[in-house]
Amino acid sequence: MKPLFFHSFPQESVLAAFATPCQFQIRAATPADLTSVAQIIAESFHRQSGLFGCLFPLLRLGIYEDLRHRLASPMPHHICLVAVDMTADTASNIVGTVELGMRFSDSWMQIGKSFPYLSNLAVHPQYRRQGAASGLLTACEKVSLSWGFQDLYLHVLEKNNQARQLYFKLGYQEDIVESHLNIFFLRRSRQILLRKRLNADLTI
Ligand SMILES: CC(C)(COP(=O)(O)OP(=O)(O)OC[C@H]1O[C@@H](n2cnc3c(N)ncnc32)[C@H](O)[C@@H]1OP(=O)(O)O)[C@@H](O)C(=O)NCCC(=O)NCCS
Repeated sequence: MKPLFFHSFPQESVLAAFATPCQFQIRAATPADLTSVAQIIAESFHRQSGLFGCLFPLLRLGIYEDLRHRLASPMPHHICLVAVDMTADTASNIVGTVELGMRFSDSWMQIGKSFPYLSNLAVHPQYRRQGAASGLLTACEKVSLSWGFQDLYLHVLEKNNQARQLYFKLGYQEDIVESHLNIFFLRRSRQILLRKRLNADLTI
């Protein structure tokens, strides 16, 4: 059975969540969450074993410091959300995370325009396929609408089938697919810019 979600923004309304019986709570990240968040992002995007495994602690530290800096100097349109397992009685009960910020368009047709952009979506491997990512993404849609935007964008790698399945299920559509030339020169999977037209009926 899919867990229920309780979306709480801003931070002050978090206490209300404890009155609701649900597995995951979605809330804004705090500095106390940073270690868990950096760990989940690092292990979701980087290898811990093999030739480059020894770089893992360094990459995790880089993620931690970047995020710490962004939380310490908040911008008007930036938020890092976490999904919390309300039933866990461990020291850290953070199971997933996502960041929502603004990105400037690189199209010459839309110079100076910016749009809400999702990044660093990651769920702890033990908590996958339980709806945590869907809950985080739905929360981002609500935040974007509250900021006054009707579209939400993100990049996904062509080879990341699990993430592509997730985004297509939630209604994202391909906006721009990177040229094959980039794959040839950069030697990596193609990036696809996805876009979702938001439903104005969603409210926080
Ligand atoms: C992609 C990721 C965020 C999904 O998180 P999640 O919490 O497991 O996702 P959800 O439980 O909300 O999944 C919702 C739907 O997405 C699709 N989906 C998610 N994971 C999938 C998988 N491994 N294979 C196929 N479909 C998948 C399914 O349609 C799923 O619905 P269902 O469980 O009813 O079939 C997670 O696997 C992850 O952290 N991956 C590594 C980091 C990453 O790739 N981030 C995205 C970068 S663009």
